[in-house]
Amino acid sequence: MRILVTGGAGFIGSALVRHLVLERGASVLVVDKLTYAGDRRSIRDCEGRPGFAFLEADICDTARMRAAFAEYRPEAVMHLAAESHVDRSIAGAAPFIETNIQGTFSLLEAARGYHAGLEAAAKAGFRFLHVSTDEVFGSLGPTGAFDETTPYDPRSPYSASKAASDHLARAWRETYGLPTLVTNCSNNYGPYHFPEKLIPLIILNAMAGKELPVYGDGSNIRDWLFVEDHARALVAAVERGQPGETYCIGGRSEQRNLDVVQTICDLLDARLPGARPRRELIRFVTDRPGHDQRYAIDPAKAERELGWSQQESFESGIARTIDWYLANEWWWQPLRAEYAGERLGLIPATAKAG
Ligand code: NAD
Ligand code: DAU
Repeated sequence: MRILVTGGAGFIGSALVRHLVLERGASVLVVDKLTYAGDRRSIRDCEGRPGFAFLEADICDTARMRAAFAEYRPEAVMHLAAESHVDRSIAGAAPFIETNIQGTFSLLEAARGYHAGLEAAAKAGFRFLHVSTDEVFGSLGPTGAFDETTPYDPRSPYSASKAASDHLARAWRETYGLPTLVTNCSNNYGPYHFPEKLIPLIILNAMAGKELPVYGDGSNIRDWLFVEDHARALVAAVERGQPGETYCIGGRSEQRNLDVVQTICDLLDARLPGARPRRELIRFVTDRPGHDQRYAIDPAKAERELGWSQQESFESGIARTIDWYLANEWWWQPLRAEYAGERLGLIPATAKAG
C-alpha cells in the first residue's frame, strides 16, 4: 500500500511510520512541517528504506498538498498532523485553529480533487483516516465510558479544534463522497514522546531529581494506551474500517494522575536508586484551567469490527517507556535543552479579568 502520513515525525505518527515501514514494508510518504513537536530523528531508521519518502510541508498549504497527491498517488491518507498539547492551546490557540481546522480542510480539499480523478477501483479502495482524540467528548463523571455514540462536548481550545476537524472529515464524505473514517483515541504514552506531556515530563524530571508537578490534587483520570498499540489500531482501521464509521480506541487502563506519577517514581527508584525516594519530589501545583476530570474509552467496536486489541498492559508499557528514556538520552537531551519543562497554559490574572 502507498500511504501518505501527515504528522509522521511526531510522537504517534513516528510510531505509525516505523511500524508501516520497518515491520510491514509499506510505501510511505511522510508530510510534516517539523514544528517543535516534529523530529526526523524519530524516524531515522526508516530513512533510505525502499518506499520511504519525506516531504517537509505545511498541511495548510493547499497547493503543495495537491502537488503531493498528484506526485505520490497514495492509496490511503492517515492524517495525524496537529497541534496536540492542551496546555499550549490554553496559552495561545491560534496555531491550533490554523493547523487542526484550516489544515484539515486544506488536506480534505486536496484529497477530494485527487480522489475525483481516480478510476473506479482505485476510487472505491481509497481511504482517508482522520486521527482524533477522546477529548472531543468532554469530561466524564465517576462512571461510564465514551463510545461512538457519545455526543461531542469539547472544552479546551485543543479539543474544540479537533472536534471541528472531525466534523469536517465526516462532512466531506456525506457531501462529496470522499471515503473518510475517524478514530478517537485515549491518552498515548511510549518512546519518542515530546517531554511536555505528563509521562515523559515526569520521567525526565524524576531522573534529574527535579520537582514533579501534579495539577490540582492529582485525582484526574486518563485512560492510557501504549503508542505502538495505537499504531496497529490505525493500520487496522485503514485496512478493515468502513468509510463513514467512527472507531473509539483505548487501553482499558484508567489511572489517576497521582498514581501514574508515583508508579514512575517507584520504577525509577528501583532502576536508579537515589538518596531519597522520588515520591518526595511530587508537588501539587495550580490546576489546569478547565481541566477535564476523567476520560475512559469503550473500545469494544474497534475490537469487534477491526479485529484489534491492545498487546501491552499499562504495567509492561510504562516499564518499557522508562527503560527507553533511560537508554535514549541522545533523543531527549537536545529537546530538553530547547524546552526544559517549564509550566505552560496558566492564564495570568489580568487576562482573566479582562
Ligand atoms: P505531536 O504533537 O507529537 O506531533 C504532531 C506532528 O504534526 C509533528 O510532527 C508536527 O511537526 C506535525 N505538524 C504540526 N503542524 C503541522 C502542519 N501545519 N503541517 C504539517 N505537519 C504539522 O502529536 P501526537 O501526540 O503524535 O498526535 C498525533 C495525532 O493524534 C494528533 O492529531 C492528535 O490530536 C491525535 N491524538 C493524540 C493522542 C495522544 O495521546 N498524544 C491521543 C489521541 C489522538
Ligand atoms: O486523551 C487524548 C489526549 O491526551 C490527546 O488528544 C492529547 O493530544 C494529549 O496531549 C493528551 O492530552 P492530556 O491533556 O490528557 O495529556 P497531558 O499529558 O498534557 O496531561 C495528562 C494529565 O496529566 C492531565 O490530567 C493533566 C495532568 N498533568 C499534565 C502535565 C503536563 C499534570 O498533572 N502535570 C503536568 O505537568
